Amino acid sequence: MAKGFYISKALGILFIILGVAAACTIIALSVVYAQEKNKNTGSSADGSTASPTSPTNPMNPTAPTTTGSTTAATTLDQSKPWNRYRLPKALIPSSYNVVLRPYLTPNRDGLYTFSGKSTVRFLCNEPTNVIIIHSKKLNYTNIKGQRVALRGVGGIQAPAIDRTELVELTEYLVVHLREPLQVNSQYEMDSEFQGELADDLAGFYRSEYMENGVKKVIATTQMQAADARKSFPCFDEPAMKATFNITLIHPSNLVALSNMLPRGPSVPFPEDPSWNVTEFETTPIMSTYLLAYIVSEFKNLERIAPNGVLIRIWARPSAIDEGHGNYSLDVTGPILDFFSAHYNTSYPLSKSDQIALPDFNAGAMENWGLVTYRESALLYDPLSSSTGNRERVATVIAHELAHQWFGNLVTLEWWNDLWLNEGFASYVEYLGADYAEPSWNLKDLMVLNDVYRVMAIDALASSHPLSSPASEINTPAQISEVFDSISYSKGASVLRMLSSFLTEDLFKKGVASYLHTFAYKNTVYLDLWNHLQKVVDDQGTIKLPDSVRAIMDRWILQMGFPVITVDTATGNISQKHFLLDPESVVTRPSEFNYLWIVPITSIKKGVQQAVYWLPEVQQAQDDLFKTRGSDEWVLLNLNVTGYYLVNYDVDNWRKIQTQLQTNLSVIPVINRAQVIHDTFNLASAQMVPVTLALNSTLFLNQEREYMPWEAALSSLSYFKLMFDRSEVYGPMKSYLRKQVSPLFDYFETLTQNWTKHPDTLMEQYGEINAVSTACTYGVPKCKELVSALFAEWKKNPQNNSIYPNLRSIVYCNAVAQGGEEEWNFVWEQFRTATVVNEADKLRAALACTNQVWILNRYLSYTMNPDLIRKQDVTSTLSSIASNVIGQNLVWDFVQSNWKQLFDDFGTGSFSFSNLIQVVTRRFSSEFELQQLEQFKKNNMHIGFGSATRALEQALEKTKANIKWVKENKEAVLRWFTENS
Ligand SMILES: *[C@@H]1O[C@H](CO)[C@@H](O)[C@H](O)[C@H]1NC(C)=O
Ligand SMILES: *[C@@H]1O[C@H](CO)[C@@H](O)[C@H](O)[C@H]1NC(C)=O
Ligand SMILES: *[C@@H]1O[C@H](CO)[C@@H](O)[C@H](O)[C@H]1NC(C)=O
Repeated sequence: MAKGFYISKALGILFIILGVAAACTIIALSVVYAQEKNKNTGSSADGSTASPTSPTNPMNPTAPTTTGSTTAATTLDQSKPWNRYRLPKALIPSSYNVVLRPYLTPNRDGLYTFSGKSTVRFLCNEPTNVIIIHSKKLNYTNIKGQRVALRGVGGIQAPAIDRTELVELTEYLVVHLREPLQVNSQYEMDSEFQGELADDLAGFYRSEYMENGVKKVIATTQMQAADARKSFPCFDEPAMKATFNITLIHPSNLVALSNMLPRGPSVPFPEDPSWNVTEFETTPIMSTYLLAYIVSEFKNLERIAPNGVLIRIWARPSAIDEGHGNYSLDVTGPILDFFSAHYNTSYPLSKSDQIALPDFNAGAMENWGLVTYRESALLYDPLSSSTGNRERVATVIAHELAHQWFGNLVTLEWWNDLWLNEGFASYVEYLGADYAEPSWNLKDLMVLNDVYRVMAIDALASSHPLSSPASEINTPAQISEVFDSISYSKGASVLRMLSSFLTEDLFKKGVASYLHTFAYKNTVYLDLWNHLQKVVDDQGTIKLPDSVRAIMDRWILQMGFPVITVDTATGNISQKHFLLDPESVVTRPSEFNYLWIVPITSIKKGVQQAVYWLPEVQQAQDDLFKTRGSDEWVLLNLNVTGYYLVNYDVDNWRKIQTQLQTNLSVIPVINRAQVIHDTFNLASAQMVPVTLALNSTLFLNQEREYMPWEAALSSLSYFKLMFDRSEVYGPMKSYLRKQVSPLFDYFETLTQNWTKHPDTLMEQYGEINAVSTACTYGVPKCKELVSALFAEWKKNPQNNSIYPNLRSIVYCNAVAQGGEEEWNFVWEQFRTATVVNEADKLRAALACTNQVWILNRYLSYTMNPDLIRKQDVTSTLSSIASNVIGQNLVWDFVQSNWKQLFDDFGTGSFSFSNLIQVVTRRFSSEFELQQLEQFKKNNMHIGFGSATRALEQALEKTKANIKWVKENKEAVLRWFTENS
């Protein structure tokens, strides 16, 4: 799954305008929507805290149901295997036939439903007299008085069924047999069932959208992590791989899609000629969470790749007609080629479908051969979408296509290793997208988008290791918690480091060998280490200080990362667990005592030195990091390929800063960003004075590159959050106005007074930053530019000539400078926008108003699904909270509506915790801390679901903020006053 919190550059900019990107943390704009609410969130595996589940079934009440017990497990007897969340290993499935018929109009009771039939063939591996198979919210139709029928394969007699029961808590259908099944024999079990085609974005669900004023309904799926069981009874764990014969019965005017191509033409359904039957080819051996089937009236673009793979892009007919799928069609071929070569394995299927859904939970989902996306992650309109939108399309496609091999062909055994699956895809997405768009320098951006973003979280004492024991991840709620930014971004960061010290070439060889060995099977992360070790051993040039496993264990089994400290007077080098708050207490033990094996790269006065390793280098290489003279400096962690921070003696810092102010080109651009990032983080941790960090921004008046500016803006956004309600803000504003003015002028010239657009991606992002920063800090020319552009559009709304990259900035500033009239104009444009990217920009800009009453009205709109779609609620709340005057409004709102929010969004994945993070990030007073503690106390009985961890982090962060402001306010005020 692509992380739900992908953020487009254009939207990100709004937060900078509003002054809100949290310290080094990009805001999560995820829009996760009510996943089927797990009724026992937080209950431990032993179920001792589980509350009784409701026995009422919301499904089609007219469906004939089996009479029989429905167990509400209140006290769990762990000796019963159906009371455990993990499947027993007694039965191993090999193949399924599944026939599904979704009804795209409501039944008499106003419910949307689907009906289905399935057969599963399985092998009996250990003697057992009970069949335990996942089933969630399915109503069974009796076959000979039982929910299922059982038969032996190859002449074997199947034992008679004694009774069946549904265990809601563990989501099982349990079949009790009179006699045990025979070991090494195969059986087939049939069932017929009905389920609700709910709009809950989970399992087999329905998605609705309007086209030309007509409501359209799509039946589609999202199985990951544990919802295939909501569509048909199945052994719903990733290691229970099998083949699937999917058949869809669908209205004859709609297209049916699945993982595979149809076996033959779609034929009329004998029982009702207005329906067709489409039967798909048997899938390869695969996991249930990667299944997909969709019935819609979508249209497609297609192309046959040179290797014969059919590539198709599916979307709403109007989006296809307007050409919004062209870009993804163009990049898919090259990206598939790249990964086939990179993995040295051809694409495993005969076709690759990608489909843009109007309503979608995550960013995208890598279903094998039928990848689903939110529209903004697949569709690109060159006329109205920004460069950031385009980058997002390229990188999300690369992420999902990377999974077609890594994840789908070879699958991790269990969700505890999700970090490897998602971290890997989050790393190679940059390589795949870079291949499709070689001029973009995308790989550099990973430092900002993943490494620095996740460090902000991983530097807290409340962080957690990448890998957790399989035994700690059991319930669907626990599984959903592992989909966090540590898994994605830290996973990507440490794999990038590994690839960098092994070299990309060796890393690639090891991965290919792993994929060849485990195709159609399951693995644990150690399997990848073994294959990498093998390629290291097979060559002689790369020498490692220890095994791949020993090195990597320290990065994945303990949380956090080190700060490397160099004393250039003595040449001493050492490491220490970096904590943003030096007084925070680490309670989580580590078998490695928070020490790492660290690859050290360095340059001394512009010359690159060899690679060394900590702790080895501590003894041997005394001279490496010693400097002489007044201008000899040393700089570690070239291009920030290492997942660590670096600190030096004050003298070396001063020399680096002087170098930057005299001739910055000697230091690579990523390291110019690093100097800013690291000094600000060290200052937060009180390892250097805050003025030393601020001194790192002095060279910015000469900096024209995007990455250093971006590092500065995101570091300073913390200052803005802490001070934009205080007297520090005046001098801060005038200092930044001074620093950004030359950049603004540079782009004014480069773009010939904003009439041309820069060529490269980095320059385009640079332009966005220049304009947004200039406007935020009050460069008069910027305000004039923005007002003129907006006024022109308002005069002629049909013809928006604002350059897409600048739209977010223009909209937001115009709304901020204007009143109700401007707001209503933008609202009207939002209501009528047909392109999602454009609607997203407008929706975010609506939160920029300076009028409390308008903002409050906007806040109330979020509770009305006719005004703000449910999938957009949390990101809208986040936008409002980002506004300095909106933050309290949203906080009050969250406090008073927690129960409703929780019912609607409770166990979703990302967005909910992001909401907590966004709404609390200005918190820096004792009063706010008390409120937060009170909030936690008051809502304990409701719970916090996926935001549990975010709440703990918010408490920790608030305490750190209080202290930081107390200690630094004076010095910061003085520094800005002196330098403005
Ligand atoms: C699925 O179809 C394949 C190919 O026709 C067949 O070999 C397999 O047995 C089918 N699976 C089941 C469960 O019938
Ligand atoms: C439904 O079946 C008819 C008859 O085989 C066929 O012509 C038509 O294309 C099918 N519809 C779809 C959407 O596949
Ligand atoms: C650092 O990154 C730049 C820009 O991507 C690249 O040109 C350069 O080769 C890299 N340097 C090293 C030592 O990898």
